[in-house]
Amino acid sequence: YSVLIASSEAHPLVKTGGLGDVAASLPMALRELGHDARLILPAYPSAKKLVRELKPLMELRMPGIVGNVQLHGGLLPDRDLPVYLVDAPAYFSREGNPYTDVSGRDWGDNPERFLLFSRVIAHVAMGLPPLNWRPHVLHCNDWQTGLAPTLISEHHERPATVFTIHNLAYQGLFDRATFERLHLPASLWSVSGLEFHQRMSFIKGGIVFSDRVNTVSPRYADEVRTQRFGCGLDGLLRQLGGRFRGILNGIDYKVWNPADDPALPQTYDAERVHLKAENKLELQTLFGLPRDEHAFVLGHVGRLVEQKGVDLIIDILPRLVMAGRVQLVMQGAGDRALEQALQEAAAAHPERVSVHVGYDEVRAHLVEAGCDAFLMPSRFEPCGLNQMYSLRYGTVPIVHNTGGLADTVVDASDAALAAGTANGFLFNDPNADGLWYAVETALRMHREQPRQWRALMLTGMRKDLSWQASARHYLDFYAEAIAAREHFPQ
Ligand code: ADP
Ligand code: GLC
Repeated sequence: YSVLIASSEAHPLVKTGGLGDVAASLPMALRELGHDARLILPAYPSAKKLVRELKPLMELRMPGIVGNVQLHGGLLPDRDLPVYLVDAPAYFSREGNPYTDVSGRDWGDNPERFLLFSRVIAHVAMGLPPLNWRPHVLHCNDWQTGLAPTLISEHHERPATVFTIHNLAYQGLFDRATFERLHLPASLWSVSGLEFHQRMSFIKGGIVFSDRVNTVSPRYADEVRTQRFGCGLDGLLRQLGGRFRGILNGIDYKVWNPADDPALPQTYDAERVHLKAENKLELQTLFGLPRDEHAFVLGHVGRLVEQKGVDLIIDILPRLVMAGRVQLVMQGAGDRALEQALQEAAAAHPERVSVHVGYDEVRAHLVEAGCDAFLMPSRFEPCGLNQMYSLRYGTVPIVHNTGGLADTVVDASDAALAAGTANGFLFNDPNADGLWYAVETALRMHREQPRQWRALMLTGMRKDLSWQASARHYLDFYAEAIAAREHFPQ
């Protein structure tokens, strides 16, 4: 197939979270399977700088847009992946991240920015001249691209459309006045269109108007069809029936490979797992903790938001610092109150807790490699990539039994240990006691049953988490979307 993948971020051009990883590695996996996958994203300054062989392809004229809009084409660095960049300087040439200014506030014109992006996606997806490349499938991701399937839904010659929900909690909701300002067809203001409790919902555009909709793990797909996890959209998702499902993400084995990772002072693999310890010592040095090979080192990397349950980690700190030779390494940025609470904890326990507030890709690799166990007490987790990176790096994940965490981590129960399938620790109650119980269980095994601990590490390292299987699921999904589209010409 030919597939246009639309995303508001893609590693290494621009990344705030897992979407950035997925948007770069899924198209690469599709290309490796012989398909013509291409990527489209906004021309943020970092993206323009990093794309190779960047050439202007066309100028687009759009009513009501400030300044001009150009489409550029090039290749992702180090990869043979074609990328289109939507260059509209008034909208995308700014400091800060794709969604917020440097102080963390959403850009006030996000609806304009992502409507413009969606319009250009729609234009490219229709294969209009001078591009003359019409994909079989337009694959959109998250609310920022939700209006693209909406805009082409009534075109006869449109490609099939697939919409992936990476996180249902981010919906792109704006007030009625914004809807009017955007001059979208008035008919879209209805509950069978974009309207959601008197507001305009970008994500509904993707869900309602695409041929197929998925999320990024089977467990999360089940969860979002319930009121508890559905963020108000559970009814709509239930109505989709077989058009909606969960497809687990893979991880990029080229970027996340402990045997060949330039970020590590010492590479290793399942056959030479004893070498991993060298990374622990380096990690301790980097984070200013006492160098102690026998300390039990716990780590976490992630966006500091309510979803990730970082407050639960803060809540167990008093117990953690009393538990003997235990250290905690935290890296993240986001919520200012959480950043501050973590920094205070580190100041209070400098021998035990160290925090790096900020986003740092290289350090994230060293945390994955240097820790004994990785904490993910997420309240919900559509897929989660860090627990998969941890598995691959022989760092045992301790996770809440939810979403993609539940689909990738096998709890060290007696049965799973006996069967040799256990690779981590799951806990059921997303509170401090639940997390602490799992941490204590892990700590005890690490101290008292080193052989069993090693078995957990090796089982994780040998698990197949590559994109190959997931990419094949997407190909089946694309085939279904194409068949559905042919069946119901609009
Ligand atoms: P989410 O997409 O919800 O943020 P994921 O686990 O899917 O969660 O992906 C998070 C990605 O972002 C991982 O690749 C992780 O390493 C990266 N990441 C998040 N915060 C940081 C940070 N402070 N420094 C480096 N990498 C980070
Ligand atoms: C989202 C989710 C995360 C998922 C990522 C990539 O940001 O929060 O669980 O792994 O998207 O699909």
